[in-house]
Amino acid sequence: MTVIAHISDLHISNASFDEDMFMQAVTEINNLQPDMIVLTGDIVENGLYVEFQQATRYLSMFEAPLFAVPGNHDSRNLGYQSFEELIGERSWKLTLGDEFTVVGLDSSSPDEDRGHIGTPQHMWLEHQLDECAIKDNFSIVALHHHVIPIPQTGRERNVLSDAGDVLKTLTTHEVGIVLCGHKHVPNIWKINDTIIVNAGSLSSNKLRGKNNNSYNVYIISEDEIEIFLNNVGGEKFLFGKFPRNTL
Ligand SMILES: [Fe+2]
Ligand SMILES: [Fe+2]
Repeated sequence: MTVIAHISDLHISNASFDEDMFMQAVTEINNLQPDMIVLTGDIVENGLYVEFQQATRYLSMFEAPLFAVPGNHDSRNLGYQSFEELIGERSWKLTLGDEFTVVGLDSSSPDEDRGHIGTPQHMWLEHQLDECAIKDNFSIVALHHHVIPIPQTGRERNVLSDAGDVLKTLTTHEVGIVLCGHKHVPNIWKINDTIIVNAGSLSSNKLRGKNNNSYNVYIISEDEIEIFLNNVGGEKFLFGKFPRNTL
């Protein structure tokens, strides 16, 4: 059994960041003892170097290994450079044991809110997913921007500009789970055998309607995937349950 905590949209700053909420989430997630934490971007609010310095202190409170991709807010004001210096690579691939492959993509463009994967990164993604297929690995892809529109988020503006092509690659390679953030609204879509999950915001007070600060937890066993929606300091419930598509 593999447990992954999916957090997103922390928005660490002096403005919209709720520190108490963040600290509560750290306690909850450390108690869960996940195998890894995936952070799908918008770690900071304005991409400022001082915000990333603050972020490294906050992120070090998590006990599990944490892997992050940048969001549109992170890439503002040369933040994509600060991200690389203080957080890590903007695109990456890692393997968990010899069974899972997790790929992180940078969907941000400097000083733009829209998402974009681009041809070089798309080709790199296809290559990684081809390797997963050869090794029969369960694949997970993480990126900040949603690849398909999310209900209850108003007018669609920021879906990936190359979403159609990316979605085709993800679904034809039978990616097990796609993790996204950005809209601050949790959601699950399933297309063919691919589960596409959005996490809400962990600690930003910019929330839509009655959405709470939340994070997702994935429990992947040999034959099924359970997805839990955990409201920070509140209710935790089963958000979705699916048979596992590949070994
Ligand atoms: Fe955000
Ligand atoms: Fe965002």
